[in-house]
Amino acid sequence: MKIEFVANSEEADKASALAVLAFEKSPLADAAAALDRTAGGALSRAIASGRFVGGLGQTLELIAPFGVEASRILVTGAGKQETFDGRAAELAAAHAYQAVKSSGAEALLIRLPGVSPEIVARAALGVRLAAYRFDRYRTTEKPEKKPSVKRLLLAVDDTKAAKKAYKTLDGLGDAIIFARDLVSEPANILYPEEFARRVKKLTSLGLEVEILGEKEMKKLGMGALLGVGQGSVRESQLAVIQWKGAKDPDAPPLAFVGKGVCFDTGGISLKPADGMEEMITDMGGAAAVAGALYALAVRKAKANVVGILGLVENMPDANAQRPGDVVKTMSGQTVEVINTDAEGRLVLADAIWYCQDRFKPRIIVDLATLTGAIIVSLGKDLAGLFSNNDDLADNLLKASKSTDEPLWRMPLPEQYEKAIESNVADMKNIGSRWGGSITAALFIQRFVNKLPWAHLDIAPTAWKPASTIPTIPNGATGFGVRLLDRLVADHYED
Ligand code: BES
Ligand code: MN
Ligand code: ZN
Repeated sequence: MKIEFVANSEEADKASALAVLAFEKSPLADAAAALDRTAGGALSRAIASGRFVGGLGQTLELIAPFGVEASRILVTGAGKQETFDGRAAELAAAHAYQAVKSSGAEALLIRLPGVSPEIVARAALGVRLAAYRFDRYRTTEKPEKKPSVKRLLLAVDDTKAAKKAYKTLDGLGDAIIFARDLVSEPANILYPEEFARRVKKLTSLGLEVEILGEKEMKKLGMGALLGVGQGSVRESQLAVIQWKGAKDPDAPPLAFVGKGVCFDTGGISLKPADGMEEMITDMGGAAAVAGALYALAVRKAKANVVGILGLVENMPDANAQRPGDVVKTMSGQTVEVINTDAEGRLVLADAIWYCQDRFKPRIIVDLATLTGAIIVSLGKDLAGLFSNNDDLADNLLKASKSTDEPLWRMPLPEQYEKAIESNVADMKNIGSRWGGSITAALFIQRFVNKLPWAHLDIAPTAWKPASTIPTIPNGATGFGVRLLDRLVADHYED
């Protein structure tokens, strides 16, 4: 999507769709009223003849309107004028794009007179996210099946200020799209080493990236992570990404740890065939962490942050880990692997321990597409938040509210610890069927060494096959990138 900021004049190009905002109760105020006069009252007649009231998400399309050069006018509901903010602008602009993306119009011009540069920038980001499409592997798609809108023109009062405000948000957009691409990539392309290579490229943004291979991890004693990857011909990797933006580059960092299972067959505890292809997204936590570090680097966040990605492939094989195997984690604790499909927690156990051991972080937040059980608990719209610390949990909930990446706090009840007690090792890797996301979180907590920690089970939200949010096309969401970026911005910068 090509994004341009133009002066608020009659610059609508002939092929373009022209969108104007309309607010609830007075849908024909301001921009829309002027256009209505040009169009000989067509807008007011259209509004009077239908149910359009300017609600956020509503659109009303007039095709080939008389007296207007544009091919179509799109009156775009923006909700109540008093509550119109960056979020509303993002959603309204994204709805406008969705309404005309396949209309045949090549450009969408949105008139935003009297709107502040910051809010204009949010509208631009909304369209950019809405227009995301993973079409790298489509070679025969007919042009008429592809979205026609390729340019976004924002007609604003102050083009220079809008451009400037958009610059940082464009970086955030890049970061979210970086994460979405990683999640969308199939597992034959994106295996641990390839993931590591893509992360390594982020050094161009000023990030420090190190990659550990199996040999190094073996030396460190990461038996749990390595056990998961041992059935795969692809080598397991641990990526360490550092952003040093604080005044003191040696100050203890914030740490984000991501589950990066590039494909999860379940291993010897093989998953059923139906829907298994969705397990290309089982590295959504690692993608979110990589995306968040991307975002922090482009906006030069004044904080030290480290991201650790545990990258493996979980395969059945003659050399694969078996149910009943006992593995030794880097922490020294042993685990009886009852079910090889409960692999994410094994990867996180070692990644989290390594992170604490090396970096002594202030806080740790891990992100993982960890359990189907959290989807049963919370449905597909909310990710689960588990934490041993109320301040950290509250900060995450606040960041969640302001970024529209919904979290719901879940409990860590002591009495469920017995569900993961083992007869042969220090613990086993699954509990019973009940409370599966909770016992998974309790398992991870055993590898957290007395510091504020939060675990986000993003299995519900990393991938949306049928999205109803205009800024999230079906597929990879990039969930977590914005949330973590905001968490740092609002609570942990110098
Ligand atoms: N990657 C899955 C969890 C998952 C399920 C993510 C659906 C996204 C959508 C995880 O590794 C897994 O297989 N979990 C098992 C745990 C069970 C064996 C205790 C599950 O949820 O069934
Ligand atoms: Mn699994
Ligand atoms: Zn998994």
